[in-house]
Formats: sequence, structure tokens, C-alpha cells
Amino acid sequence: MCGIVCYTGEKNASKVIKKGLEKLEYRGYDSAGIATVGNPSLKVSKGEGTINQVLNKELDGNTGIGHTRWATHGKVNKTNAHPHTCSKEKIAVVHNGIIDNHEELRKELGEERFKSETDTEVIPHLIEEQLKKTDDLEKLCRNVINKLEGSYAAVAVLDTGEKIAFRKGSPLVLGVGEDEYFLTSDVTPFLEHTRKAVFLEEEDYVIIKDDYQIYNSGEKIDREVKQVDWNAEQASKKGYDHYMHKEIEEQTETVKRAAFQDRKDLQKAVKLIEEAEKVYITGCGTSSFAAELGASYLRETGTDVEVEQAHELEYRKDEISEDDLVISMSQSGETADLLSLLNKVDAETLAIVNVVGSTLDRNSRQSLYINAGPEIGVASTKAFTGQLTVLKLLQYALEDKTEEGRKELVQTSEKISETLENSRETVREASKYLSDKEDVYFIGRHRSRFVSKEASLKLKEISYIHSEAFPGGEFKHGTLALVEQGTPVIGILTGKGENDTLSNLVEAKSRGADIIGIGTEEKTGFKHFIEIPEDSNTEILETVVFQLLAYRTALNRDKDINPDRPRNLAKSVTVK
Ligand code: M6R
Repeated sequence: MCGIVCYTGEKNASKVIKKGLEKLEYRGYDSAGIATVGNPSLKVSKGEGTINQVLNKELDGNTGIGHTRWATHGKVNKTNAHPHTCSKEKIAVVHNGIIDNHEELRKELGEERFKSETDTEVIPHLIEEQLKKTDDLEKLCRNVINKLEGSYAAVAVLDTGEKIAFRKGSPLVLGVGEDEYFLTSDVTPFLEHTRKAVFLEEEDYVIIKDDYQIYNSGEKIDREVKQVDWNAEQASKKGYDHYMHKEIEEQTETVKRAAFQDRKDLQKAVKLIEEAEKVYITGCGTSSFAAELGASYLRETGTDVEVEQAHELEYRKDEISEDDLVISMSQSGETADLLSLLNKVDAETLAIVNVVGSTLDRNSRQSLYINAGPEIGVASTKAFTGQLTVLKLLQYALEDKTEEGRKELVQTSEKISETLENSRETVREASKYLSDKEDVYFIGRHRSRFVSKEASLKLKEISYIHSEAFPGGEFKHGTLALVEQGTPVIGILTGKGENDTLSNLVEAKSRGADIIGIGTEEKTGFKHFIEIPEDSNTEILETVVFQLLAYRTALNRDKDINPDRPRNLAKSVTVK
């Protein structure tokens, strides 16, 4: 995790980097820092908290690096915050990833020179040592990389103004502007300056002096400069208090965009599925619930499909053969558990991903893009409904009904604003009611059981209320014992299991539960009932309501909760 921004150009580096780091806070926000090449020396400012809490005045210099941290090695404090410097403070480094052999390197370099507990600090010391041996930066990079084991996206700035960067297992993008360059964890920090980007490949290293050079294993490489589709406005809050709220409300547009897949790409994906002996569909967190729903769609087409979260599927890697297909669901395309699984199997690979140029995208045989635009809130919202849309479209395409399916999905997208608008008042009331509860249970059956899992995850990750989700039929096999007077139980009353879920809610109510329902027809006896329109893709409409419910509940629970940045979490989970 962690976010990196390096800038060099004519502007004040600390100003550009600070703004860029704000865009990357979804990657971690427990501490932050910036180093600039000032006159006459490197200037470093860092500490606990977000970059806005740490840096309240500009640093001089037009070249610098910055970091927003999600701690892995060493507690959250000023010393462990990045950038880290070498003994003579002539080199500063920011890093995302984990250096596995840092203890060994510390001993080799001499423990006494280290200030922090981090794995990262070995990098500036290694560079310092190499600089004693050579002033050829290409050779220096190669020698440093040879010493490092683990994963890294690292950028170093020397007090002479030169920048070097290397990546392995963690993302790093080079932004190419007019007389200015950026090195960042994703494209969002530089979109307002340039939309030209080079997505660095595994084990690439970069040297920036007056212009940039990319190398890999000693060879100079010409990497394509791509035009990024996203724009700066998409990555802004557009007047909303939180990214999460904006991202919930823009789903009419994003679901529609996801429904318009490139025809040829869709056909290639269909062919991969049809030719596979067995299809494994996988993801983590919210993306794993999309995978579960996707598996239920694909099963209806007669596809032999299994679904399992990536970190668990890895233990079954030997069952997956080269005749199989692994479909990976991911917003970021950088989830370590997913990438690790793909490294270990020989199967064909199809990615359903939001971030174009991400590691998952580049390492997969074929990709379908969710087209959701930048999702910055840590809680996945529009990416999830985009994933469902692409998976549904795949189902329709496998059944040879692509156009019919696309029309239905577009109709669903058009009902999203209406659904949010009509449910707003009830959601407001229900969220006030939920905001002081300690436990909330969600139930659903058939497909709704996966929606209930996503609803529960959304609520717990941003409001910190304990929540669990079950198939309705499972409730009375144990968890019902936890229901007492006033325990909220939320049931999804749509689809195949509707009547049975209703019975389960009534059973809970007779044991004291306050029941909340969501469905297409208002029912009596509920504390709150949220009505949604009839639709063939009802799981998308249910999901947007639950996202809003989680968002409002978090705000009502504690004014200090920032739903965009829930505690302990980061959006891109790039460590296993
Ligand atoms: O970027 P990915 O979709 O691969 O991320 C997977 C999960 O880390 C992510 O969905 C996570 O569960 C979110 N916090 C859910 O809101």
C-alpha cells in the first residue's frame, strides 16, 4: 500500500506533491512526508497524520518526493514516516512494498547508521554505499536492485537533483508533462498536469536528469507513452463532502459505461470462457462478492465455474490446469493476493478490472474494463456495480443475447438515480436508527445472499458497527441466538428466496429483532421498509441503496468518521 509522488519541473515541488498525495490517501494515511531538493540541501518534512496535518508551509525547490504511508514495518510515528534519508542526508527515498531481506541488509550496512524501524531505510543507505563506488546511475540502480528481495516501488532523489526509481511487484507510473515529470503510484496525482503516462513494467528502473531513461536488466527500453482516458474532474469531489458520496451518486453513468464493452474484447472473453475446461472466478473483499455473483450468472449458461477468494484459491493452485481459465475481479488491479495467485498458475487469464494499465491488466491474457473512472473512496462502490454489469453482460453474451442484455443493463442504470432519490428519506431514518447499534445482521437468499454480504461489509468498514451476513436459511442454525430485543436484522426481499427470507425475518422479529426490509413492494410490520423498482438486475439497485445506508449511518454514528478513509484500511491492498 502507501502512495508515492515524485515531481520535477518548474513549479514548486512541495505544492504539487502535497496535492498529489491527497489523491493517493486511499492507499494509506497514517503518516506522510515530503523531501525537496532545496538550496543548498535536501529538505525533509514528515510526521504522523495526513499530508495536510504534516505540512503546513511550502518547502522550496522544484524537485521532490512525497509519501503517504500505511504502516507495515515499524509503528506509526515521525521517525518511521517516509522519506527516509542516508547518513549524510544527501539522498531521500520513498517506498511502497516490503523489502523481505531488510534485516540481513541492515546487518551488512551496519545497524548504527539506521534511525527508523522500517524496511525502507535500507534503500537510501544502499544507494549511499553504491555512490561511493560509481557515479554511473544506471549501474548504481542495477547494483541496488540486485541487493533487494521483496516488492518495491521506490523513488530516490539525490541532493544534486537526479531522480532514480525502480519497481518490482508494486505499481509505479511515469507522468510525462511539458518540461515536467512525475513518478506516482497511479495516474490521479498528475491528471491535472498531464494525461500522458508510461506504465512501468516489472523490474524497470528509471533515471531522470533533464529527460527520462527507462532500463530493464541493463537494457535501455522504449516504453509506449499512453494517453490516459481519465481526467482531473473525474478525480475531484465535484462539490460532494466525500468521494464515497459522489461515487455512489454517479452510478447511473458508470453502470451505463460498463454496459458498453468493446465488442471484440467481449467476444474474446466469451471465447476464453467457452474454451476453458473449468472457470475459476476470484477476487478479494468486495470484488470477491462480485465474483460470487458472477459465478451464479455463469452457471446459468452451463459453464463449469468455481468461485473462491484469491488468497484461499492459491492453496488449491495445483488443481488449476493450463486448460482452465481464471477470471480475476479487481478495482485496482494491484491486489497482492490476486497477483500472487496468478503468478502461481498456468491457466488462461481474464481480468475484469477498473484501472487500465494496472499490474493485473498487464499480466492477464485478456481484460474487460469496468470503466468506472477513478474510485477514490476506500470503500468500493461504483466499481462493484460496474463489475456486476460486466459479469451480467458476459452472461448475456454467452447466451447470444448481448444486445438485449445491454439494453436491460442500460435500463437498470437509468433507474439508479430514481432508486436513490425515492429511498433517500427512508435511508436517512434507517441510518439514524442504526447509528447507535452495536450489531447488525443482513440476510438474503439465492443471489441476494451475496448482496447482503456486500451490504454488511460496506456498513462495518465505514461505520465500525459489527455486522454479519448470512443466507436467510442459515440464520436459525446458530446466529439467531444473538438476536435480542432491538437487534436490527435487515432482509432482502427480492428474487427466488423472497418468501423464505420474509419468514426468517418474521422469526427474528418474534424473538425481539427490529426488522428492516428492502424489496419491490412495501410490507407491513417492518421498522423501516425501502422500496425499489422492479428490475431484472435488481442486485445493482439493492446495492446502491445499501451503499447510501452505510454512508449515512457512518456520518450519523460519529462526526469524526471520514467514510473515505476508514481506520486501518487502504484501498489498494498491495501486501499479502
Ligand atoms: O482493488 P480490488 O477490487 O482488488 O480490492 C479488493 C478489496 O481490497 C476491496 O474490495 C476492499 O474489500 C474494499 N475496502 C471494499 O469496500
